[in-house]
Amino acid sequence: MVNYHLVLFIFFSYIIIFVSGFSRNLPIIPFDEGYSHLFGDNNLMILKDGKSVHITLDERTGAGFVSQDLYLHGYFSASIKLPADYTAGVVVAFYMSNGDMFEKNHDEIDFEFLGNIRGKDWRIQTNIYGNGSTNVGREERYGLWFDPSEDFHQYSILWTENLIVFYVDNVPIREIKRTEAMGGDFPSKPMSLIATIWDGSDWATNGGKYKVNYKYAPYIAEFSDFVLHGCAVDPIELSSKCDDIAPKTASVPTGISPDQRRKMENFRKRRMQYSYCYDMTRYKVPPIECVIDPKEAERLRAFDPVTFGGSRHHHGKRHPRSRSRLKDDVSFI
Ligand SMILES: *[C@@H]1O[C@H](CO)[C@@H](O)[C@H](O)[C@H]1NC(C)=O
Repeated sequence: MVNYHLVLFIFFSYIIIFVSGFSRNLPIIPFDEGYSHLFGDNNLMILKDGKSVHITLDERTGAGFVSQDLYLHGYFSASIKLPADYTAGVVVAFYMSNGDMFEKNHDEIDFEFLGNIRGKDWRIQTNIYGNGSTNVGREERYGLWFDPSEDFHQYSILWTENLIVFYVDNVPIREIKRTEAMGGDFPSKPMSLIATIWDGSDWATNGGKYKVNYKYAPYIAEFSDFVLHGCAVDPIELSSKCDDIAPKTASVPTGISPDQRRKMENFRKRRMQYSYCYDMTRYKVPPIECVIDPKEAERLRAFDPVTFGGSRHHHGKRHPRSRSRLKDDVSFI
């Protein structure tokens, strides 16, 4: 009798461990199940475990991969480790696009990682386009609270009908809500997931001041932990069966919790280095969806008086703290 209870106890313990472990984990898939080679022949290498890939930039070529399916909405994620040391001019991108299908009115949701000179950190940029709105860039740039070339970190995109959220290690860093006024500028057509590494010498680092130096090549970006939790769409008819999207696990977010919102605000306050909404050299009038926060404007103006100076809210005051304040502030979360 005792043994019987013991067996039952062990049995149910295993079930509980299994179920709770499962619900905490993201639905990670092997590379081959979700992605295909896009370009760069041997500069894409699938590791033996089948779950990780390396994409490499050398003097010959960059490399990239693309999802086998098109998706309308979902949660998409990868763990990425960026190349270390001198990476000026190198761009690693993890993004959604349908540019190959809709040349004139494509949609895009972008994570772009911009390399840097030695001793300076990678920066990360987010952006969206909708229905070919390439005349309105909606870029934001941030510093990170870790060195993204030291270890893998998770970068994720949540895309629903009315909301886009960018995450870094499950911390939301940017939220874009669809507004009436944005019209077609909010991405709305099925897109592929794409990851690339390429030579962005013309613009990536200080507007093209620092080029890729192939003395330090190969530049290798490592990708792992692929999540393609979305609504796959028929590429010909562009129809979808979005009701039977796979069962949601607890770990796939659907929005931003109050706790996460607090973290997002913290992140943006301390880490955001550029926002199109405040770029007065570019937009005399901020794009329609921008909600201008005077404190944010002042902080960015102190950080970069040329770009964010303008004349709209400028009272002739300069703030000498500026750059050091952003850089020294490493206590986050
Ligand atoms: C997208 O752009 C096309 C023109 O390129 C226009 O006809 C269409 O109405 C736009 N769609 C939306 C949703 O704005």
